[in-house]
Amino acid sequence: MPTFCVAQSQLELHQGDCLEFLPGLPESSVDVVVTSPPYNIGVRYGVYDDTGLSRQEYLDWLTGWALQVRRVLKPDGSLFLNLGSKPSDPWVPFEVIIRLKEILSLQNVIHWIKSITIEKDFVGEGAGLAQDLTVGHYKPINSNRFLNDCHEYVFHLTHRGNVMLDRLAIGVPYQDKSNLRRWSAAASDRHCRGNTWFIPYRTIQSRSSDRPHPASFPVELACKCILLHGARPGLKVLDPFLGIGHSALAAIQTGSDFLGCELDPEYFEVACQVVAEACPTPRAETSAPQEARARQMELF
Ligand SMILES: C[S@@+](CC[C@H](N)C(=O)[O-])C[C@H]1O[C@@H](n2cnc3c(N)ncnc32)[C@H](O)[C@@H]1O
Repeated sequence: MPTFCVAQSQLELHQGDCLEFLPGLPESSVDVVVTSPPYNIGVRYGVYDDTGLSRQEYLDWLTGWALQVRRVLKPDGSLFLNLGSKPSDPWVPFEVIIRLKEILSLQNVIHWIKSITIEKDFVGEGAGLAQDLTVGHYKPINSNRFLNDCHEYVFHLTHRGNVMLDRLAIGVPYQDKSNLRRWSAAASDRHCRGNTWFIPYRTIQSRSSDRPHPASFPVELACKCILLHGARPGLKVLDPFLGIGHSALAAIQTGSDFLGCELDPEYFEVACQVVAEACPTPRAETSAPQEARARQMELF
């Protein structure tokens, strides 16, 4: 299991099935889980077959790892669960969140906006727009029934729905500075960003070399989740569906410790590479289970 150390962060990446990995973690040991499981909509991954389970089987599988996540999550911990759908099968996020109602409390619903159009007339003179603005990643679908899907969900789940958040850590400045004088609550030029987060994918030249995964989320999305929960040295972040390591990079950027698990050896390899590039001095690697487990306990 490769372990890495960079600046304040210690990271441990594990290749395998998270249903085997999660039971080995101590109870109440993780502050933040930020993750995106397969969506059961037929995405073409390398190893995982996203068409292999019926919706019912998928929801049962999801319940299995969600129970483990609840077990390892600290009482004041946060699970940020990213889920999307496809226009012809829009139910998945709703079916999942209804199923999870039995397991955790839904504290916030965040809308990850991938692409948006802002009409010049709606934003006023102050914004200085010369024309309407269309920004972000746009994946056209050829249909006269469905709208293009420009957003996904991030469900913020906690044990009891009462976890304190650092809203201003991802806050935004007031557009109209007169609010600063009018509202005593506006102590600084920053207010809550709200639950619509516009985060486009970065433009890439080649999918196979720049983003070799069919369903990654941007590093910035995971960063915002960690910062919203409240970043501090020693914060422990977990991603049981690591993919190519974007949540690990977010942990590095926020100075958090990290534990990740990925089934697919090729994606896992990419994740190890991107983390190694971010921290050039990987600690000694080992595949000896006992030694790896000992170091895992050390970290958590
Ligand atoms: C939506 S992707 C996650 C992408 C990741 N957030 C990123 O930005 O790269 C879901 C990932 O879960 C992995 N996966 C599927 N079943 C798994 C399992 N049982 N344990 C661990 N990983 C699994 C898939 O190989 C896929 O890479």
